[in-house]
Amino acid sequence: MEFDDVVVCRCEEVTMKEILSWVDRGYRNLDELKRVLRVGMGQCQGRGCRDIIMRELARATGEPMDKINPGTIRPPVKPVKLGLCAWGREDASG
Ligand code: FES
Repeated sequence: MEFDDVVVCRCEEVTMKEILSWVDRGYRNLDELKRVLRVGMGQCQGRGCRDIIMRELARATGEPMDKINPGTIRPPVKPVKLGLCAWGREDASG
């Protein structure tokens, strides 16, 4: 398996090759890539792929990682049981 064939965003089944193709076309942040590839919009909301994509953006642009726009992160960033919201932590069961 080649590096380009690696599936980076497992939720949306997007490969490194697809991501690098759009980076080569001038896409420079995660929100732009979300719009064309849906990366970071799957069930995990980018927890499985965001850092990898940001690292590739940093490499492609020559910018340090902390200068790369991480894109819009929308809650909930972690699934929570409705019971926690409805009854509070002490009363939630299971
Ligand atoms: S791995 Fe990309 S959204 Fe889940």
